[in-house]
Amino acid sequence: MENKGYGAHVLALPYPSQGHINPMLHFSKRLGSKGLRATFATTHFIYKTFQPEPSESVQFDTISDGYDEGGFYQSESIHDYLTRLEDNGSKTVANLIMKYKELGHPIDCLVYDAFLPWALDVAKQFGLVAVSFFTQACAVNFIYYYVHHGLLKLPVSSTPVSIPGMPLLELQDLPSFVYDNRSYPAYFEMVLRQFYNTDKADWLVVNTFYKLEAEVVDAMSKICPLFTIGPTVPSKYLDNRVKNDDRYGLNLFTLESSINIINWLDTKPAGSVVFVSFGSMANLSNKQMEELALGFKGSNYYFLWVVRASEEAKLPKTFVEDIGEKGMVVNWCPQMEVLSHKAIGCFFTHCGWNSTVEALSLGVPMVGMPQWTDQTTDAKFVQDVWKVGIRVKVDENGIVGREEIEFCIREVMEGERGREMKENAIKWKGLALEAISEGGTSDKNIDEIVSKLIH
Ligand code: UDX
Repeated sequence: MENKGYGAHVLALPYPSQGHINPMLHFSKRLGSKGLRATFATTHFIYKTFQPEPSESVQFDTISDGYDEGGFYQSESIHDYLTRLEDNGSKTVANLIMKYKELGHPIDCLVYDAFLPWALDVAKQFGLVAVSFFTQACAVNFIYYYVHHGLLKLPVSSTPVSIPGMPLLELQDLPSFVYDNRSYPAYFEMVLRQFYNTDKADWLVVNTFYKLEAEVVDAMSKICPLFTIGPTVPSKYLDNRVKNDDRYGLNLFTLESSINIINWLDTKPAGSVVFVSFGSMANLSNKQMEELALGFKGSNYYFLWVVRASEEAKLPKTFVEDIGEKGMVVNWCPQMEVLSHKAIGCFFTHCGWNSTVEALSLGVPMVGMPQWTDQTTDAKFVQDVWKVGIRVKVDENGIVGREEIEFCIREVMEGERGREMKENAIKWKGLALEAISEGGTSDKNIDEIVSKLIH
């Protein structure tokens, strides 16, 4: 690539999963659109399998996670994957830094996902500016910070839990790794390790916007200074006057024809469709899939349901054939395009942080059905802090039944409560746009980082 006289060269290193790649990619594009040279490094496997769309503001490069043929799915365990990612990642990030130096485009700054704290050591070894990128909600990070620093002792012995800037939290509102800290020990260790070397980072940036989590941001900033830089969604969808390059993230699943999906939505009245997605990782039981299927059918609303190919066999037999015009089931869709379609009335979501922020940024109210990790805390905030949705109730067998599903959909789609949630969602949409527009809180924070890098 020719030297276009960029101010500085930033290397962005996401954690290699869908929910971490999207926000880091959009953040990199924003840095790129502000005049920095941005190189986005994902794993060999992801790059060659999913081939990112070329972008005007970032270039792509690769590192190795030690599983160049199959990525995470080739590994024996989460622990095994994380260990090899660290070993191979450290070496290959160092190689990239040396490569760009030889090419005459030396890297000045490494922006790395906070799940990869070893990247900070690599950055410092080469004298680079290090920016730790916290992908999840500030509230979730502050809870992990509390646990890491022994301010919240585990197992949690009394509830509700009180953490500054947050409503009182019951057990089920904490991230699942905290209330059930034995089920995924390797992931739990990883989320706590985010904080072991943050004092050496030059900046901590959090994928949220100030007004969305103002009280938490203020409380956490007092002990751990941070910058809000979100929402990391393509601003094109928020306001087409905002100059931004391309629309899509990097899909790790085969995208179905968006023309078919959008054509189907075009035939539906405004606000009449429930959009359903559980993100890239959720693994629901057969019984739960059946209840969902019957609940959506029973609600009598149109629905567009993303069921990943690996989950499809869990659908009741002949369900897809039987739903006719009422529903559409797809394996993966352009989620931002769908959420911004006027036919969508409600998002039935697992409350992954990206999905939550995307819905908030587009003014779509939600039914939250969290599964694990940070989603439980996000769902608490969706219902009780931002008041843009409701959280489903789980029965004594751990299932969300069809009647509950129908009830929650009606609550959001109809009546006074539904109207209030929609109004609140529209308010957050405006505030999200404000944050990333010129002079907004996130935009100013990004400008500050950029100005320190440009020399
Ligand atoms: C994971 C965790 O589960 C989540 O809780 C965490 O905050 C980030 O990492 P994931 O479960 O995939 O992510 O959920 P989410 O954070 O919502 O990210 C999914 C992304 O995939 C979103 O950006 C969404 O727009 C995109 N997506 C999803 C599509 O583009 N198409 C789809 O059909 C479904």
